[in-house]
Amino acid sequence: MLTTQSGILSRAEFDWFRKLIEKNTGLHILDYKVTFLTNRLLKRMRVLGIDTFEDYHNMLEQEGPQGEELKVLLEEIVVFESWFFRNTKQFTILSDVILPALVNEKIDNDKRVIINILGCSAGQEPYSIAILLHEMMPPHKRRLFRINAVDISMKLLRKAKNGFYKEYEINGLPDKLLWKHFERVEGGYQISEEISRMVNFFQFNLKDSNWNKFRFSDAIFCRNTLIYFREESRKQIMDRLIDSIRPGGFILLGHSEILNEDDYRNISSIAHNIYRKVKA
Ligand SMILES: C[S@@+](CC[C@H](N)C(=O)[O-])C[C@H]1O[C@@H](n2cnc3c(N)ncnc32)[C@H](O)[C@@H]1O
Repeated sequence: MLTTQSGILSRAEFDWFRKLIEKNTGLHILDYKVTFLTNRLLKRMRVLGIDTFEDYHNMLEQEGPQGEELKVLLEEIVVFESWFFRNTKQFTILSDVILPALVNEKIDNDKRVIINILGCSAGQEPYSIAILLHEMMPPHKRRLFRINAVDISMKLLRKAKNGFYKEYEINGLPDKLLWKHFERVEGGYQISEEISRMVNFFQFNLKDSNWNKFRFSDAIFCRNTLIYFREESRKQIMDRLIDSIRPGGFILLGHSEILNEDDYRNISSIAHNIYRKVKA
């Protein structure tokens, strides 16, 4: 185990902290990530002026699952890597297949389309979808799209709502779209009001059992989030996700997140980890 000025993070303490994190987020910290976890714990302990892992453990235990410190610690643990137009092959299918299907089935009949993005990080993914919609559709059509983007991290959601990105964070954005939808400001780029207004951000923990707010989704993006979960949690969340999609709706997963079609007989694969729920 790792030795630090604050002592040693014993195997038992490592297991206690990672269990706490998994219980409250689904994120499973692998055995070899002891240095990662130790450093994150030490960062919080320095801020709080706590000297030992045992004292920090006791504090978290006393505050319980609704305590403020647990929320702050979880913010330190989440993996938030994301970029604009991540997985371009999926964006091609979105523009060539999914959006035309949704327009045909719903928008042309004056019905709303609901797109939910689960684990949206700092907004790169929902804003990419909003930009694509803006490029493809006239205002009266895109007004019928509702894009909801959720994340467990308030810190990331604040950054997302802010819509400010440093130079290195706008990787993946074609120049033409960058100049059209962002303003160059000191230290980076600010997303336009028009795009920012198209996305509705709010906090949600995928471990929550109440998924009512996602019912009848036309498309759900859940990309590169469940890869950090153990199979049991992943399956539980995937079951809820699939229940939330309306028949004929679409599911977009990350590049290494494949659905077993034997487990989900009401799902068919399109391509590149995009699936469609079979129409009733
Ligand atoms: C690696 S990022 C992926 C971002 C984006 N979906 C993409 O593919 O680029 C994973 C995101 O999932 C969020 N996350 C992790 N656990 C979560 C949970 N239990 N509920 C909601 N969001 C969670 C993290 O905060 C992070 O923003």
